[in-house]
Amino acid sequence: MGAVRTQVGIVGAGPAGLLLSQLLHNAGIDSVVLERHSRAYVEGRIRAGVLEQSTVDLLTDAGVGERLHREGLVHGGIEIALDGRRHRIDMKALTGGSCVTVYGQTQIQKDLFERRLADNAKIVFEAAPVSLHDVESDRPSLRYLRDGAEHRVDCDFIAGCDGFHGICRASIPADRLELFERVYPFAWLGILADTRPVSDELIYTSSARGFALFSMRSTRVSRLYIQCTPDEDLNEWPDDRIWTELQRRLGAEASAGMETGPSTDKSITPMRSFVAEPMRWGNLFLAGDAAHIVPPTGAKGLNLAVADVRVLAEAFDAFYRAGRRDGLDAYSATCLNRVWKAQRFSWWMTSLLHRFPDRSAFDGRVQRAELDYVLGSAAGQQALAENYTGLPFAG
Ligand code: APR
Ligand code: PHB
Repeated sequence: MGAVRTQVGIVGAGPAGLLLSQLLHNAGIDSVVLERHSRAYVEGRIRAGVLEQSTVDLLTDAGVGERLHREGLVHGGIEIALDGRRHRIDMKALTGGSCVTVYGQTQIQKDLFERRLADNAKIVFEAAPVSLHDVESDRPSLRYLRDGAEHRVDCDFIAGCDGFHGICRASIPADRLELFERVYPFAWLGILADTRPVSDELIYTSSARGFALFSMRSTRVSRLYIQCTPDEDLNEWPDDRIWTELQRRLGAEASAGMETGPSTDKSITPMRSFVAEPMRWGNLFLAGDAAHIVPPTGAKGLNLAVADVRVLAEAFDAFYRAGRRDGLDAYSATCLNRVWKAQRFSWWMTSLLHRFPDRSAFDGRVQRAELDYVLGSAAGQQALAENYTGLPFAG
């Protein structure tokens, strides 16, 4: 069995794993990344694309912000459409200057790969299966099969960045983890299309027919979602039906002049809130989707993954530079503080804007009153804007 030695063994080459390896590299710390899929597969996945300013800043400091600054769209507001009427939330004014940047996660993934591979990073693709060993000792290791041969990575620490369905969280004994979960009774059907977005900013739409989101990847590419049932059959949703539904939910007036066209991608996203506590077991540290999932309504998934990785990289740096363990010991609590605030916001945005099939008439009226309150109150809008653009880091 071939063995290599590194300081941090990273499982998963999604945004969390790759950014961690980049930050560690910048701090002079060696890592090996094991990824079960091919580079093309990982780069081809279409995911959300709204970045908080702190995410943009971290990617910039890490040396992967060049294209993001060139191509990303800076948005100072979002719109909420209710029963055919559009209302703008001026996030920039409400927060004293905070904006978000629209830039697809697919592009971040490409930028990270390019940068890591230019630095001769050790990334093993198609490593499957990966297994974790001696995690509670100070000599943990990862084993994996590639091309039928078994390999071993000896390390000081393991970073579990392998997403919701990964092996790292699953390797933790059940009695060492507490899981919190809510599954929503709907999903999002999403398409990409080479059409001009209906508005310069995102439109979150609440209607009697259900939620819809009008987002974008550029000024020429739209990203659109409609609320659907979790078991929806994509074959029953030809493009025409999706565009008609989008127009109905936004309303005839608000969607007047909307450019339609063939979709270039079509998929269904399930909606779930999930947290595993703590985000550490022995010398294994979970980061990103491996530890938590948010429903996409608040656009927080990638931002939370980046926030985890920032805390983890700083903790490793303090350990290797000064022999300090306090950052590692505080890692889980530090991240969970931010994670739960983002969970609350994502749950709130989801509850506020979707049609719940089993909601009582009373609950429906309360939902409507809350929407009216938010849209009519500076304080309500400010709370939304503060959370959407990203809470301060220490908080
Ligand atoms: N062994 C090796 N690699 C694995 C394994 C495994 N057993 N299981 C999963 N992986 C890989 C996946 O193929 C994927 O490339 O781990 C990576 C995890 O990446 P993501 O799912 O993108 O998770 P993360 O890096 O935490 O990024 C979070 O992704 O889902 C979105 O909204 C979420 O934007 C957020 C971001
Ligand atoms: C997206 O553009 O994919 C997107 C934007 C905002 C969200 C979710 C997804 O809240």
